[in-house]
Amino acid sequence: DLAPGSVDEAMIYAPPGVVERRYTLAMALRALKVGGRLDVMAHKSKGGSRLGKELKDFGLEVGETAKAHHRRCIVTRPEVIEGLDAAIAAGGLRQVEGLDAWSQPGVFAWDRVDPGTALLAGVMPPLKGAGADLGCGFGALSLVALRSPAVTSLRLIDIDRRAIAAAKKNVEDPRVSFEWADVRTLPTEGDLNFIVSNPPF
Ligand SMILES: C[S@@+](CC[C@H](N)C(=O)[O-])C[C@H]1O[C@@H](n2cnc3c(N)ncnc32)[C@H](O)[C@@H]1O
Repeated sequence: DLAPGSVDEAMIYAPPGVVERRYTLAMALRALKVGGRLDVMAHKSKGGSRLGKELKDFGLEVGETAKAHHRRCIVTRPEVIEGLDAAIAAGGLRQVEGLDAWSQPGVFAWDRVDPGTALLAGVMPPLKGAGADLGCGFGALSLVALRSPAVTSLRLIDIDRRAIAAAKKNVEDPRVSFEWADVRTLPTEGDLNFIVSNPPF
């Protein structure tokens, strides 16, 4: 969300997904001032071995080093970068074809319903009262929980800001509220009648 051309220097530990990584690199490059420095690294088995090529594909000159199973690339932002808008569009929040939902690469199971989620949704009893979806993702389980008219409120909570942004678009219901938060740090007081969760393992 940084203004384009506003940053002198960026350091990134790049994410493993190809589309997510290109999006992250593109967002950082867009935020940099011309002449600004991008320092990016990744484990070689999680995108690091492709990092240099991916940066060169933006038309950049890349200085690359290897250390401790990681690759580190340093680039200086030129005036013109090739394919920046395309990488941002490919990795951004969008309506996913076939899923009928908003999501974004990097969000858990971003373009499908996870088999565990589907299993849980299939056996979920009709719920009632006040509830929370812990680790709501883009909102798949919440949508199932809200089918019950006896649900009076539902808190959708996720640590991933992108998941919350997607869930806000997918779950339009006056009974819901959204929290970008780590569930481990939430206050323990308050009454809930139920929790739904496909937890991270
Ligand atoms: C297995 S996914 C399930 C997502 C969604 N409920 C679904 O069924 O598609 C677990 C979710 O928990 C979130 N998460 C992981 N650790 C968390 C934490 N400490 N606090 C809140 N959310 C967390 C992840 O970002 C992810 O969206």
